[in-house]
Amino acid sequence: MKKRPLIAGNWKMYKTASEAVTLVQTLKAAAHAVSNVTIVICPPFTALSEVSRVLKDSPIHLGAQNMYCAPEGAFTGEISPMMLKDSGCRYVILGHSERRQYFKEDDILIHEKVKTALKYSIIPIVCVGETLAEREAKKHFDVVKAQFADSIGRLEKEDIPKVVIAYEPVWAIGTGKTATPDQAEQMHSYIRRLLNERYSQEVGSRIPLLYGGSVKPDNTKSLMEKPNIDGALVGGASLKAESFAQIIQEAQQTYETGNKS
Ligand code: 13P
Repeated sequence: MKKRPLIAGNWKMYKTASEAVTLVQTLKAAAHAVSNVTIVICPPFTALSEVSRVLKDSPIHLGAQNMYCAPEGAFTGEISPMMLKDSGCRYVILGHSERRQYFKEDDILIHEKVKTALKYSIIPIVCVGETLAEREAKKHFDVVKAQFADSIGRLEKEDIPKVVIAYEPVWAIGTGKTATPDQAEQMHSYIRRLLNERYSQEVGSRIPLLYGGSVKPDNTKSLMEKPNIDGALVGGASLKAESFAQIIQEAQQTYETGNKS
């Protein structure tokens, strides 16, 4: 039996607060027709509070795109877990490849952030994934294994069930080049095996594994049909209500059809 899909939109550095409100109003209306998908949107920090007000009484959850690992303090430019909670966030994306690449975040820092998020009951969506050079050198499994070990595998057994993992191959982000469903499934089943070996099969089977990288309405079904793909982390296609709503509908249909057969 497949898990209820989780579809998350990462808006990256797009949308002013007023543009975000317009987008979320349309999405909110579309979400009424959806009952079997967990929907999360992650706007920029500056739009969180206003979007949260629009989302009141809506099944759509709010998430942030980053967070610092200290509860408060002299950390100019950073955002704390309490600030995210205060802005209505239930989720936070951590360790996105753009944070790793442009802001030099490493797995040790990402692990600290994951622990802090969990301490404050914020669900971390922890990203892992290899670059094109790493895949071409056939190091993709080793790279993801090391990222997993250092950022996630150091969590205690009682914390791991609250984590969501996103596999985002860097070469597929914003490039229009999706990993094929088979390539994605291969890595997802590998991550599932890492979870099973580090924790237990029972724990491993419960953790949602999202795929991210050029997810669009027309490739959602073929990805979501794979046994270890439990959802998607969507960038570009989450910036338009129509395409994000279509992805959500595709995920719902695939889930409902899969569980009937
Ligand atoms: P795209 O869907 O634009 O490729 O972005 C993926 C991503 O980075 C989501 O976090």
